[in-house]
Amino acid sequence: MLKRPIIIDTDPGIDDAVALAIALYSEELDVKLITTVVGNVGLDKVTYNALRLLKYFKKEVPVAMGAAAPLIRETEDASDVHGVSGMEGFDFEEPTNDLLLEENAVNAMYRVIKESKEKVTLVPIGPLTNIALLLKVYPEVKENIEEIVLMGGSVTRGNKGVMSEFNIHVDPEAAQIVFDSGVPIVMAGLDVGLKALVLPEDSAKLETMNDVGFMLHSLFKRYRGGSMKTGLKMYDSCAIAYLLKPDMFETVDTYVGVELNGSMTAGATIVDLKGYLKKPNNAKVCLDIDQQMFREWLLDSLSKCN
Ligand code: RIB
Ligand code: CA
Repeated sequence: MLKRPIIIDTDPGIDDAVALAIALYSEELDVKLITTVVGNVGLDKVTYNALRLLKYFKKEVPVAMGAAAPLIRETEDASDVHGVSGMEGFDFEEPTNDLLLEENAVNAMYRVIKESKEKVTLVPIGPLTNIALLLKVYPEVKENIEEIVLMGGSVTRGNKGVMSEFNIHVDPEAAQIVFDSGVPIVMAGLDVGLKALVLPEDSAKLETMNDVGFMLHSLFKRYRGGSMKTGLKMYDSCAIAYLLKPDMFETVDTYVGVELNGSMTAGATIVDLKGYLKKPNNAKVCLDIDQQMFREWLLDSLSKCN
């Protein structure tokens, strides 16, 4: 079977680690490039974490560093959720920089997309700064992008601001550029991310499942995206789940705008389900997820990470 070429833009990030594992071991996906972006923690740390994960997974995928700050706003991190390093809880071996490209993420993405015979799917699971820069610096690249399947946004309330989800909250200007780009977008936001849970019994299975499961279980003990008791939120895995098992989701085609000026609502994704704004649809928004199907899919996918 022809593997689907993808680029993952990421800010690892404990939930990013789960998404990266599933994507890298999947028989259906060809991860051509991993690009890093400031988000959960600073750019150097998220890049170091990506390299640590690739060494642990024994996967040789090139890594390119992207933006060290949002387009306009001051950086806000999520070290309260992922720990100071961005990936607390497991003693990884020191990675080398063999996989780290000299090229910056924008140029690396442009090259990989341009050179690909098939259209490439972009999978941003962090703030959208790199993707916005790519689309602005090299607009011609849009014709070889299949779609952008992103973790971010929310139809309702936020998890970093009252109305803003973290990835959009950190760089709303970048998000507006991406949603206005005309590239087909799938938005996997909090409406599914908050329901995509690893329950205590799932994490216990992971601990003895294989080396990847053991490592993730160790990280989960330090992850503050939910709780071991009520369930840990696998936000970023929703983007990968959409690629591999879209029937898990209920979706709607609609218009999504990004609030930039609200003194209390900047970073909110305005999902215009009723068409009040009379704007053309620009995204497929995931409204719901089959929670049991997600749990089974996640465990099954991680069982293949050997
Ligand atoms: O709101 C959840 C998102 O913020 C996820 O991508 C998580 O890794 C954090 O970056
Ligand atoms: Ca992330």
